[in-house]
Amino acid sequence: MGKFIIDGGHKISGEIDVQGAKNAVLPILAATVLADGASEIHNCPSLRDVDKTDQVLEGLGCTVSRGDHTVTVDAGGIKCCRICEELMREMRSSIVFLGAIIARCKEAVVSMPGGCPIGLRPIDLHLKALRALGIDISEEHGYIKCRADRIKGADIHLDFPSVGATENIMLAAVTADGVTTIQNAAREPEIIDLGLFLRAMGADIRGIGTSVITIKGADKLHGAAYTIMPDRIVAATYLAAAAATGGSITLKKANPRDMGAMLHVLREMGADIRCVGDTITLTSPERLKSVHTIKTMPYPGFPTDIQSPFMALAALADGTSVFVENIFENRFQHVDELTRMGADIKVTDRSAVVRGVKQLSGANVVARELRGGAALIIAALAANGTTTINGTEFIDRGYENIESYLSACGAVIRRE
Ligand code: UD1
Repeated sequence: MGKFIIDGGHKISGEIDVQGAKNAVLPILAATVLADGASEIHNCPSLRDVDKTDQVLEGLGCTVSRGDHTVTVDAGGIKCCRICEELMREMRSSIVFLGAIIARCKEAVVSMPGGCPIGLRPIDLHLKALRALGIDISEEHGYIKCRADRIKGADIHLDFPSVGATENIMLAAVTADGVTTIQNAAREPEIIDLGLFLRAMGADIRGIGTSVITIKGADKLHGAAYTIMPDRIVAATYLAAAAATGGSITLKKANPRDMGAMLHVLREMGADIRCVGDTITLTSPERLKSVHTIKTMPYPGFPTDIQSPFMALAALADGTSVFVENIFENRFQHVDELTRMGADIKVTDRSAVVRGVKQLSGANVVARELRGGAALIIAALAANGTTTINGTEFIDRGYENIESYLSACGAVIRRE
């Protein structure tokens, strides 16, 4: 297990270019399977999850080459329709390959993605929707086996606007016979990014970014070049790092239009935020103010992924803030660790009441999942003294070279 060792109390100030979005690049790489030729994906973040996705693609028989933040995938030679259990276990999001593989190969076999530290993460909505598209699915011995000689367009109503299920339906439906409508579709910006890439491949998709997506199946898709959108969660994490330490930061290559709910909360906490084009500048207040209640919701609501990093801010704010986690049932694992650093947080069921303290203090803590790990980094940067954060491998899943970006902005952080 790797560690970050952080000497707190140094302001995070400077400029950061925001990396490409992890939650957009993974489904887009899965979509490359649909083409008979090569696709060139730019602005891919250098992350372990992207390397694992490349391995999934190679396992399917695609030729994958990586340059500086560019991944080229030639799916012309695809010969396998199975994802090995080890990769499925390591990366739950590989489930999004299901729709793409079945569309390309007429069959797909993936192992059942197990639980994950933040909650159960069921896939019933994915399977119900794929069945509605005429795909025959059996679940045996921990594997999901899918077959369909022809995928048929259908009207699908999602009980919840699931991001993963919306992506899987889009991938399965773009080459289906006839028209597919997704009602109550997810509206996340990453869904728009996937939709735009599919359009660049020749797909006929309307309504992306709204809750009704209409897809007219195309006979064939071709490879395309595409640039991944900026990572809105990484951007908000760096803004939070500056806000927690009383610093001032400018993010470049960001997209403030995707970040409304998060910027709104930072402003409510007293930060001065200016957005010009793809640049966001945050200047911290003397002391952060508490926020009344933050409830995680599907987009355009407040994202579950930034709940924990913003809880680290609330832990230092003047007053009491309440967080309600509506998306995942086990996403408060950072609370015990923040408490070790002196935070005053009480959890009941899906709510956390955070009474802000004047100062956190360095401690030995453990990151148990990606965003909870980011929350500990923010707390450690602001804390008095030295913090050791174990479990860097979780943080590396979503943040490219986090220690280099933060060091360049004044953090005293090293990896061991
Ligand atoms: C979710 C987030 C997404 C985030 C990603 C990584 C939401 C709505 N989605 O996407 O923004 O980037 O995690 O952290 O915030 N569910 C079912 N059955 C299913 C699928 C989902 O019951 O078949 C439930 C889940 O248990 C959860 C909710 O729906 O409560 C959201 O799931 P979904 O959007 O599918 O999750 P991800 O695609 O992982």
